[in-house]
Amino acid sequence: MWYYRSPTIVFGEDSLSFLNSVKSRRCLIVSDRNLEKAGIVDNIKELLPEDCRTMIFSSIDQEPTFSQMTSAMDSIMKFKPDHIVAVGGGSVIDTAKVILFRYARPDLDFYDLTPLEYLGIKEAAKLIAIPTTSGTGSECSWAAVVSDEREKRKNELASSEILPDYAILDPAVVTGLPRKQTVSTAVDAMTHAIEAYVSTWRNFYSDALAEKALELITGNIAEVLHDPGDIQARNSVHIGASMAGSSFSNSQIGLAHALGHALGAIFKVPHGTSVGLFLPAVVEFNSTVVHDRYDRLNSIFPESMRDKTLAGSLRKIFATMGQPVHISDAGISKDSYNAAKPSLEKLAMESTGLVANPRESESADIHMLLEEVMG
Ligand SMILES: [Fe+2]
Repeated sequence: MWYYRSPTIVFGEDSLSFLNSVKSRRCLIVSDRNLEKAGIVDNIKELLPEDCRTMIFSSIDQEPTFSQMTSAMDSIMKFKPDHIVAVGGGSVIDTAKVILFRYARPDLDFYDLTPLEYLGIKEAAKLIAIPTTSGTGSECSWAAVVSDEREKRKNELASSEILPDYAILDPAVVTGLPRKQTVSTAVDAMTHAIEAYVSTWRNFYSDALAEKALELITGNIAEVLHDPGDIQARNSVHIGASMAGSSFSNSQIGLAHALGHALGAIFKVPHGTSVGLFLPAVVEFNSTVVHDRYDRLNSIFPESMRDKTLAGSLRKIFATMGQPVHISDAGISKDSYNAAKPSLEKLAMESTGLVANPRESESADIHMLLEEVMG
């Protein structure tokens, strides 16, 4: 027995207007300072029903931490939201999921969030996710990545009860996304689709979503980078990224994420950049067991971007997008990388990304993959 889980997805131009029909009297808006400054939070407030009271929590860094959330919980408990609207990138949406959990179960600790037990989270408030980047897929996933500043690690928390109730995919909120973020988040989304497609937990639903996601992203990313205001191309990449999120959420991420999370935890490299650094090497590593599935994915790439192998096509498209292929391109010196290797290896070996990767990996394999991106 298996489940396919997804929020209700509201998509396309003007989909933000859905907020007007939300039956909320007390709404917590979770966002970040930049989006608040840019007026996006005000825009959300205006779209909510007139009689809806709002509270804003926007003190979220690029890497959300447990202590940031703890500091806000007292006032959130007093406000008693019936809805939580998360508007932002993956960090913001992940933060909102964990806030929902703490709001529903203040008696539990962060680490008590588990997929193995019913926790009654959904009864506390509805969660609406509005992604302002096209990549993390957090709006469609029941996972949240939060940094533990004491342990210097990224924690992958999960429960089907933190899956958003609604995901609103409005392309208007991503037309202003800077080029760097457009690239790193698109690379993240491609990695989700590719890893979900070869995971040992793959299924017909995750397969279909991964294939369409890769088609939409690889077929439109060049146009988005050429003309960031192209609403049709943005819409395609935005929906593709969300499909990739739904695909991995109903399958599993793999080795590139295990290595990427480790790198991100130590060097603060953006998530998409770090998983993308390892993806071509991981694809080559896994090829011995899933080459037929990689061939199928490779055939989806536009002809101009297609090489003989999926790893080759990835290197080709990454070069046109400006995605780093070696650690030095990501601003990491060889000395500091070498010094961090034992920690990187340890963190990668402990990652849940290894659980359903199609090829089992030993310490020596992780070591080899860490070497490969040295350049
Ligand atoms: Fe990711």
